[in-house]
Amino acid sequence: MNPTGNRFDANLLAANLLAEMTLEEKIGQLTMVAAGDVVTGPIRAGEVADAIRAGRVGNLLNLWGAEQVRAMQAIAVEESRLKIPLLIGFDVLHGHRTIFPIPLAEAALFDPHLWERSARASAIEAASDGISLAFAPMLDIARDPRWGRIAEGPGEDPWVAATFATAKVRGLQGASLAAVDAVAATAKHFCGYGAGLAGLDYASADISERLLHEVYLPPFKAAVAAGCAAIMPSFNDVNGVPMTAHIPLLRDWLRREQGFEGVIVSDYFAIAELMRHGVAADLVEAAAAALAAGVDIDMMSDAYRLGLPAALERGVASMSQIDAAVRRVLALKARLGLFDDPLRRGCTASSGPLDAKARRDLARDVARRAIVVLTNKRVSPNRKILPLAAGLRRIALIGPLADNSADMLGPWAAVGTPGQAVTVRQGLEAALPNAEIVCACGVGIEDEDISGIAGALELCRGADVVLLCLGESATMSGEAACRANPVLPGRQWALAQAVLDLGKPVVALIFSGRPLMIPALVEKADAVVAAWFLGIEAGNAVADVLSGHFNPTGRLPITWPREIGQVPIFFAARPSGRPAYPGNRYTSIYLDLPVEPQFPFGHGLSYNDATLTNLRASAKEFKLGDELVVLVDVANLGPVAGEETVFLFARDVVASIARPHLELKGFGKIALQAGESATLSLPLRADQLCFPGPDLRPRFEPGDFELSVGASADPLRLLTITVRALPG
Ligand code: GLC
Repeated sequence: MNPTGNRFDANLLAANLLAEMTLEEKIGQLTMVAAGDVVTGPIRAGEVADAIRAGRVGNLLNLWGAEQVRAMQAIAVEESRLKIPLLIGFDVLHGHRTIFPIPLAEAALFDPHLWERSARASAIEAASDGISLAFAPMLDIARDPRWGRIAEGPGEDPWVAATFATAKVRGLQGASLAAVDAVAATAKHFCGYGAGLAGLDYASADISERLLHEVYLPPFKAAVAAGCAAIMPSFNDVNGVPMTAHIPLLRDWLRREQGFEGVIVSDYFAIAELMRHGVAADLVEAAAAALAAGVDIDMMSDAYRLGLPAALERGVASMSQIDAAVRRVLALKARLGLFDDPLRRGCTASSGPLDAKARRDLARDVARRAIVVLTNKRVSPNRKILPLAAGLRRIALIGPLADNSADMLGPWAAVGTPGQAVTVRQGLEAALPNAEIVCACGVGIEDEDISGIAGALELCRGADVVLLCLGESATMSGEAACRANPVLPGRQWALAQAVLDLGKPVVALIFSGRPLMIPALVEKADAVVAAWFLGIEAGNAVADVLSGHFNPTGRLPITWPREIGQVPIFFAARPSGRPAYPGNRYTSIYLDLPVEPQFPFGHGLSYNDATLTNLRASAKEFKLGDELVVLVDVANLGPVAGEETVFLFARDVVASIARPHLELKGFGKIALQAGESATLSLPLRADQLCFPGPDLRPRFEPGDFELSVGASADPLRLLTITVRALPG
């Protein structure tokens, strides 16, 4: 087969092999079991070598390391009858050995180029460890911080998620899947997972067809268009149909409408769980339902191995369905070059020490760009508390995340080594060698012990500034980590109150996998910074920003609520007939809380001020097929050089279907020296103003559109012009 692994040869090879395979060997290619020590689901791996040798298992997950992978591949390609190589899958979500910020944090960069670069770096490391299939990117739109997996995705907006999807698929897969440092990308979890009832994981999702087409499907449409090799259905049901057996969305929309020819791999044990969903009476029915929907690989539930033979006998599954699934799995293995040289991934060291350092440097740059400065109050006539003043004598670093390495990696930290992550204390000591940095936890992350607060306060007394390092542990977000009340855990607020009562300048750093509800801290602290989980270079990135070495550019990819009672809250809501009008009771407002979020989507402060002026468009009128250019002048008012992120929103003023207040249609970034100004151009194709019509097909309607630009989705800070779409 030619080394490029092109599709035609891959399919030819698959067809030839298929003709020789027994039913057991065919089902073996549709079976994936865990083979390593990492447990990412409810059941543990068993002994797999014999099963591989017998052709009963053709794919593994949670195994990595050149030696371990080579050992298993050798069994498959030397000892099994047909010598078919294994797919080796792993959750390379935000790095492999070099851990980058969690995806929600990385989304705050609004930088597709860096999104792609971090994925490329991760793929190089993963492939060198023998991995050929990454269970990434996670593309679930999330608008409920109670859901722990909000940490794993790109936030609330489908346009951002689609852009993120394209960048990540390209980064992971590279120019050719057959390349030794390429890994197949798996767009997950398809779909509507983030809309689970009450913010609970695995929960049912009732989603209108409209919302599916406007919000939850676009990121996967983009992933398919970018050539992603695999898709993973989500655990949840959508409107009563579990995604693992969802024929309309898997077979009809994904495969037939989007033309997805890749592999659909179930989530962990999800096929067997169709029985718990109550849509399959036994494993036979579960296997038949998943196969009929087009699920090719059964991860961990053994439903295909135990259920498909009987399903064939019962006539509820067909050999042609099985053959089609096997063909797709073999074709992916061929495209990955695994038939050419099954040991190619894992043979080459990921790179030398210089490249490893380059990846750490990249991790540091991505991490500091992910940091979002939420508030930054003036503490004297000519300065705000951040960046920290030069020449500080003593800095008190207080809180359970102040000198904490393990939690900095966040959830799904792959093969990252906890001790490797630079702590905030270490980063600050390196960045501010002349300052005395004293450190105390004060309280634990979740426990109720407050005996350490007194000692922590003692340390603060002589300090020029106190840096509170508060938030969650790495396992309080991610899978199976929902929180009904996502506030500061344990007794951290008691610690913060005691510190704030000292009257010292206080900067609060929030380490979390989600927005936390912190209205009182926002009010009382001199600055609040979203530090997420920044990965292996966390401490250095925090120090780069706090010291002013790096002017923060991070912007929120998610609306940050004041209280959980506001959820779901997001900027692209429809106006209703009585849009919120504070003071007017008979509008969409609360009696007991402002309706505005704590911080809007796109919010984030830098150390320079900037203005947007002179918004205009390349044309006042346009037709379908045209492309507009939206222009705005951006000025950096100083005092330091900075990088501005400008968002482009659109609103269809009058349409046949009510349209959201704002829809994100693009964003741009511009770097400016202090005092410099320039014009930023934002392209807008007329077809981007289409929306799903009554038949859910893209519909372009003539009429006025409001185009707005702003530094965030804050309606009070937008510049707006009106352009007109013409018929025809
Ligand atoms: C988990 C997750 C999924 C992951 C898979 C393999 O349950 O839902 O995101 O890729 O199992 O670890």
